[in-house]
Amino acid sequence: MSTTDTGDAADGRNPFVYVVAALAALNGLLFGFDTGVISGAMLYIRDTFELTALFGYAIDPSYVEGIVVSGAMVGAIVGAALGGRLADRLGRRRLILVGAVVFFVGSLIMAVAPTVEVLIVGRILDGVGIGFASVVGPLYISEISPPKIRGSLVSLNQLTITSGILIAYLVNYAFASGGEWRWMLGLGMVPAVVLFVGMVFMPESPRWLYEQGREKDAREVLARTRVESRVGDELREIEETVRTESGTLRDLFQPWVRPMLIVGVGLAAFQQVTGINTVIYYAPTILESTGFADTASILATVGIGVVNVAMTVVAILLIDRTGRRPLLLSGLAGMTVMLGVLGVAFYVPGLSGLVGWIATGSLMLYVAFFAIGLGPVFWLLIAEIYPMQVRGTAMGTVTVVNWAANLLVSLTFLRLVDVFGQSGTFWLYGGLSFLALVFCYQLVPETKGRSLEEIEADLRETAFGSETGRPDAVKSDD
Ligand code: BGC
Repeated sequence: MSTTDTGDAADGRNPFVYVVAALAALNGLLFGFDTGVISGAMLYIRDTFELTALFGYAIDPSYVEGIVVSGAMVGAIVGAALGGRLADRLGRRRLILVGAVVFFVGSLIMAVAPTVEVLIVGRILDGVGIGFASVVGPLYISEISPPKIRGSLVSLNQLTITSGILIAYLVNYAFASGGEWRWMLGLGMVPAVVLFVGMVFMPESPRWLYEQGREKDAREVLARTRVESRVGDELREIEETVRTESGTLRDLFQPWVRPMLIVGVGLAAFQQVTGINTVIYYAPTILESTGFADTASILATVGIGVVNVAMTVVAILLIDRTGRRPLLLSGLAGMTVMLGVLGVAFYVPGLSGLVGWIATGSLMLYVAFFAIGLGPVFWLLIAEIYPMQVRGTAMGTVTVVNWAANLLVSLTFLRLVDVFGQSGTFWLYGGLSFLALVFCYQLVPETKGRSLEEIEADLRETAFGSETGRPDAVKSDD
């Protein structure tokens, strides 16, 4: 059931759609910047505030630091939980605007925070904005994109996540000598403003508009973002899908949606429990233990950021040609091997010289394999595999799992290293990568080149074996 059209016109490729997608992809920048900046800022926050008490209660400084760092993730869990429903209710575009404002206010509060308590409030708020952004960014782009380039356009969001991380590393570096952590955190306001102002001028998702009964508006958006010849066809496809559904929260647990819920939840958890953020957060510490000096390990960390961005670009170029599955499966296979090698390298006593280089090389390759597979493909697939009327809710649910797993991994990493050593910890992540490979091989569908409506019809067909893929039995009764 693939789209057989070829060529730009048949794809409905209108240059304006690139502008819309690039702007919406700034959602990823908020998220990436925050991920990368906090470890650098934390070094100096320690010098500004007494971290020995919270709200007058004595508390261990390492816990206070943990709360400052993970506050954003807790906020993101809340934001993602609310964001899915809000995207269905308010619309995709309006939620992006709300998210940018929340993120802006959070960053402002952090930049001027007079006490650590206020700083924590700012971080949680920032996190809520990130939670909204992480759901609605990919969702909006997938709904506004023509099928043939949807993979690349949605993956722009992953490109901005990785660029945000890299920019944050550089900002940390630039402000490090003065210890200006307020500037580091406050700079997050810049992309939030650009995103807000830009989105004011962007159209709403045509699919959401249609679902709201605003057919004329949906047609207008398609006319702005497609070549003329595609508008009618695409509108008809959307119409078919919307007409055959009743769309309640219960649809998320319908027998034909459930397999994709399992796929989404599995991918969300695997994207985190295979350890990527331990590298993003702890790269300098890991690298120092391979014998690098302080400054060299910071530089090597920037190198990791560059590899992450560069390989995401490669993924963007490939994803609509090779498809999602080949990238995902080869990426996971590579991650598994690299984690195995890393474990061996750290097992050798006195990690230095050649072994140190092998460790650094495999760390970089591990990031490269993540960046070409699980990184972008997770966010893309969850924006593609859910039926229109529960898409927001489903993406919100799956994104909550992603942030919760992220939090779990960051809270447990150092403890795992204590208990199992660095080798044991890398092998654990490697084992989980292997499991992820088997999971994806068995369960993840290919979505390349098909419209969101075709993917939805396929799902029904697989579940019900119906020729049309749209059996009446699928309608829920309320
Ligand atoms: C993940 C983040 C991670 C980033 C690294 C994203 O896809 O969701 O948790 O920090 O990739 O590039």
